Amino acid sequence: MEIKFVKADTLKAKPDPSTLGFGKIFSDYMFMMDWNKETGWHDARIVPFGYLSIHPASTVLHYGSAIFEGLKAYRRADGKVQLFRPMENIRRMNNSAERLCLPHIPEEDALEIYTKFVDCEKDWTPSQEGTSLYLRPFMFGNDESLGVHAVHNATFIIIASPVGSYYKEGINPVKIMIEDEDVRAVRGGTGYAKCGGNYAASNRAGERAEQKGYSQVLWLDGVERKYIEEVGAMNVMFKINGEIVTPKLTGSILPGITRKSCIEVLKIEGYNVSERLLSLEELTKAMADGTLEEAWGCGTAAVVSPIGELCYKDHKYTINNGEIGPVTQHLYDTLTGIQWGKTEDKFGWTYMIG
Ligand code: PLP
Ligand code: COI
Repeated sequence: MEIKFVKADTLKAKPDPSTLGFGKIFSDYMFMMDWNKETGWHDARIVPFGYLSIHPASTVLHYGSAIFEGLKAYRRADGKVQLFRPMENIRRMNNSAERLCLPHIPEEDALEIYTKFVDCEKDWTPSQEGTSLYLRPFMFGNDESLGVHAVHNATFIIIASPVGSYYKEGINPVKIMIEDEDVRAVRGGTGYAKCGGNYAASNRAGERAEQKGYSQVLWLDGVERKYIEEVGAMNVMFKINGEIVTPKLTGSILPGITRKSCIEVLKIEGYNVSERLLSLEELTKAMADGTLEEAWGCGTAAVVSPIGELCYKDHKYTINNGEIGPVTQHLYDTLTGIQWGKTEDKFGWTYMIG
């Protein structure tokens, strides 16, 4: 695939790695390409990072035709840069595209684009412990008319941001509020797709939780409001009486790549792992009688994040004395070990850029 390169006049200074936070600083370049129904994808280019110019009637501004992905480039101790399971992100983006009637990108083309773009920006991958270069591929419908229909024009972009930890707590336990008013998604809707609208619908509850001192909300299913689904930006797992339980993918939950990786690691090591329905009733009972041993969230941005407190209807439950538990720590160490190339990747999950 041919990718045009437009050189920037000046390059930015790299940031101090101790002040990164999440998604506030962006690299020198971005990848872009356009699609229309007649010619398909065209004009693949790496251009200086900058503002976009879009028509005020553009579909995305009115009807929310927008999907995105999130993956990271990691700096290994030997200085090389690698991605973690990029094909999983590519496949999920195509699934999201299918749901929103946006165009697919052939898998091999997408991998080539990721590789060339990361290779171009790899100097932006920080090397300080826990830092990485977060890649945000996204696609939006870009018709210049107000009719509501599957789009005829779309744009795909990748931007890159050197990041530290997503939560200010780092790997320390976060406090999560169980949300019982708003819902994030319903089966048949767009919950399994990584689309902007899911996040827009989440903001009100997230804001309420933040005002009460919580990092994010834990969503219940949108129909019965009875079953645990996921957290705002991560999937969720619990250890209850020896069993590792994570909500099964019913269509309203994002099929997280970190979730999938945690399940694969735990199963291979002989843990008892169930992907099943977990009711709020079962969870609150386990919290009250002490059989909830550990809880954690998992996601690309959040990595593996211990949950130290859950709050439901102003009732606060402390989990594992507000400390990180052994399974959580083990998963964190295993995944980050593979991601940063510190331990052998027996699974073949890493993809070397160079
Ligand atoms: N659930 C939601 C709503 C998310 O935004 C994310 C983050 O991407 C996840 C789960 C975890 O997915 P992954 O592990 O693929 O990053
Ligand atoms: C990610 O983990 O990559 C995410 O997309 C979470 C994000 C919404 C901040």
